[in-house]
Order: sequence, then structure tokens, then C-alpha cells
Amino acid sequence: MNEQPHSHHMSVEEFRRRGREVVDWIAEYYREIESFPVLSRAKPGEILAALPPDPPAQGECFDAILRDVDEIILPGLTHWQSPNFFAFFPANTSGPSILGELLSASLGVQGMLWATSPACTELEMRMLDWLVGMLGLPETFLSHGKGGGVIQDTASSAALCALLAARERATGGESNEQGCNGLLTAYASAEAHSLVEKAVKIAGIGRRNFRSIDTGAGHSLEPAALAQAIARDRREGKIPCYVCATVGTTSSTAMDPLRAIGEICREAGAWLHVDAAMAGTAALCPEFRWIHDGVELADSYAFNPHKWMFTNFDCDCFWVADRAALVGALSVRPEVLRNPATESGAVIDYRDWQIPLGRRFRALKLWFAIRHYGVEGLRAEVRRHIALAQTFAGWVREDSRFELAAPAPLNLVCFRHRAGDDANLALRDRLNASGDLYLTHTRLDGRLALRMSIGQAHTEFRHVERAWRRIREEAARLSLAPGSD
Ligand SMILES: Cc1ncc(COP(=O)(O)O)c(C=O)c1O
Repeated sequence: MNEQPHSHHMSVEEFRRRGREVVDWIAEYYREIESFPVLSRAKPGEILAALPPDPPAQGECFDAILRDVDEIILPGLTHWQSPNFFAFFPANTSGPSILGELLSASLGVQGMLWATSPACTELEMRMLDWLVGMLGLPETFLSHGKGGGVIQDTASSAALCALLAARERATGGESNEQGCNGLLTAYASAEAHSLVEKAVKIAGIGRRNFRSIDTGAGHSLEPAALAQAIARDRREGKIPCYVCATVGTTSSTAMDPLRAIGEICREAGAWLHVDAAMAGTAALCPEFRWIHDGVELADSYAFNPHKWMFTNFDCDCFWVADRAALVGALSVRPEVLRNPATESGAVIDYRDWQIPLGRRFRALKLWFAIRHYGVEGLRAEVRRHIALAQTFAGWVREDSRFELAAPAPLNLVCFRHRAGDDANLALRDRLNASGDLYLTHTRLDGRLALRMSIGQAHTEFRHVERAWRRIREEAARLSLAPGSD
């Protein structure tokens, strides 16, 4: 009668034991990571077929779960943390960040309001203020003035939030009241990330009111073309409300000229958002802060520590110069969330700075990472990656069979074999199928280029040197002659 009912939960003691096993598993994974083919060889549906169609009726032993991770999940992974991962942009991580994430998951707090976990909000405020100084960003972004920063999941969400703030600023809050009037226009370069077009669609601006602006030398936005497009729209009674400039485009790390764009935006009354998702991290080093020249003219700015700052996904840092514009656009005040701290006006409630209500304690992993490395440690790692990329670019320049396809200002080298598009695709596919490395392609000036993106935490000279050797070996096997398409 008095027997305790059987608990289905994992006991604290079992958690301690299994937790150690999982940390050991992770350590072993990192130790062995170079032995896996970087790009998964799974065929479509293969992982799905290995998973039972129905869930277990009774709970299973943890050993069985972990075994399936080894046998079913691992073969279906592309190893983003492999030092031989040179695809896309990095989505790197680090020991301290993983442990911070573990702690965040364990605490399981929701930071939607200051009152629902004051430390969650205030650590985030401090981290974002630290980063303003670390990246040399304008002081208007600091939380003790009119501005402030917040962690978003992704750069896409940051750009959308900026657009919503811009929309409301341009219409005096009327779009929120009545819906969009079809007159607002938004602008970004033809090389900007597709997140701008997505934000334009979600925010109700309408794709027909989105202007894709020509790029000039080096694939960066042409200010004269932007000025012309804005002037044309104004003549036609449109309301230019938002420009998204990119610091480090996805294709080739092209840098849009922020100062010239900012001056055009000021004159037109348009909101300038800066998307520095990957490249922003370079500004940790004073010698690379030129990428931010003119950023003081921006209304908002975002970069992703989850790309190149050793902080695991998801972590996008987003700042606004005038937080009232953002909060005004996004705030709703249901009765259930009312509380004395909010009413006092003395606290930040981050739910008003983002699309969802709930929010994870992401600042912990950032805090762990920044404290582990220190500013000098982060700078050293960034400089190391950039130096590796520059060495690689030098090898490309010296080999007459290859050419650089774009300037390589930081840690991405776009290059091609001179034999033409099909040959470069074949080269890419052979390299990726070998499992030795993973790289992806882009199209620049209508021609295919391969992208060597260096930013994985543990990539060293030997990995880059081997990649270059493998590239030349496979090119030789394909017996690529220039212009052989
Ligand atoms: C310049 C730029 N902006 C935005 C993104 C998308 O980032 P997120 O996945 O954080 O939305 C990328 C992704 O590579 C990018 O290169």
C-alpha cells in the first residue's frame, strides 16, 4: 500500500554516471574526428530506414540509446567540427562553449522576462556590452544608453527584427496597426544573403518592393546604384525604409562600403542594418577593424559567434542604436506576463527584442567561451585562421593551373581551376567523395568557383597543406587542361 510508485525519471546518480559517459564519448569523438569521412556518405532515406517506425512503449536502457548514436547517427553526420571541414562558413564550437551549453540545458530556465531569471538577462546584457568593446563597435550600442544588444538564434532573425523596427519607424507604428501599405521598399546587394528576401516576405514588405542592388568591383554593393534605386523609388511615391549591408558576403566575403551606404541611408531616412554574420569576428583584431569603417552610421548590426567565435550554434549577437524602435515594434503585453519589475521600467525584458516569447540561456556559453580564451586568445585564433587562408591563396597564385576568383581579405579563398565550370564541379565532387576534406562552391561573375573556408577551431597548417595537395592530386587525375570544358 505504502510502496513508492516506480519513477520513470533518470535518478541523480544515474545522471551523474551517464553524464560522465557522454562527456567521455564527446572527448573520444573529438580525438577520432579526423578518421571519419568529412562529408557523410549516407544515401537519402538510409538513416530513416534504420530507425524504428514506432516509438518504444517502455523506456529503454541508456546503453542502447548511446549504441544507436554510434551505429545509426554517426554514419549520417557530416563532421562540421573536423579540421578538414572547409565548406560553407564554419559553424565552430569549443570545449568551454559546449560545457556552457550543457549547463544552460541543465538549468533549463526561460529568460523571456527579467523576472523569470534575472541572471539570464543581465549576463546577456554584460556579454553584449563586452562585445561592443571587443569588436570596436559604436558606443551607441551599449546597454546603458539608448541602444543595447540581445542574443538571437540566427542572423536571419536579427535581420527580420531590424526590418520590423525599420517598418514601424517609417510608418510611425501604423504598419503594426493596419498592416503594410505596399509602399515600403527594402534594399540589399545582389550578393547579400537570401535572409533579406525572406525577411522582406515575412515582414509583409512584399518581394516586388525588394531591390537587389548591383555590385561593383570585388562583389560589394555599388553605392551609386543604391542611391539611384532609392531616388527612383522616392519619385514614384515609395518609402525606402531598410537597407541591409553585408560585411563579408556568403559567396566571397565581399565588404559593402558601410560609410557610403550609411550616408545614403541617413539622407533617405532608411534604417541601415549590417549583416556581418561570419566576418564580424575578424574585428576582434584591431588590424581588421577596417571592415567596420562607417558602422557608426548603422541603426543595427549582427554577427554570429556561432560561426567563427568558438561558440556553438545558436548564437547571433544583435545590437540596435535605439532600442525603443525595436521594442516598440515587437512588444505585446498580455496580462499573464505582467510583473512588478516590468512595470517599474527598470529592467530589460528580452521577449520584446525577438520573435518568440521563450528564450534559452545562451549567454552562458558565450561567457564560458570568452572567459576561457580571453580577448587575446580569440584574436590569436582568428589571426591564425586568416594567416592559413592567406598562405593557401599564395599557393593558388603560384600555380598556373589555378586562379583566385575574388579578393580574399580574411579566411575565405575563392579559387578555380582554369579548366572551366564542369572541371571545377568534378574536382569538388572527387575531393568530397574521398572523405579527406569538404569544400563547396559558388558562382562569381557567372563562373563557378570553389570556396576554401578556413575557420574550424582545430584546423592547422598541416590540414590546409594536405587539402592543397589533395586538390592538386585530384586535378592531375582528372587530367584537367585549361579550358577543357
Ligand atoms: C553573410 C551571411 N549572413 C547570414 C547568414 C545566415 O546566418 P544564419 O544561419 O545565422 O541566419 C550567413 C550564413 O552563412 C551568411 O554568410
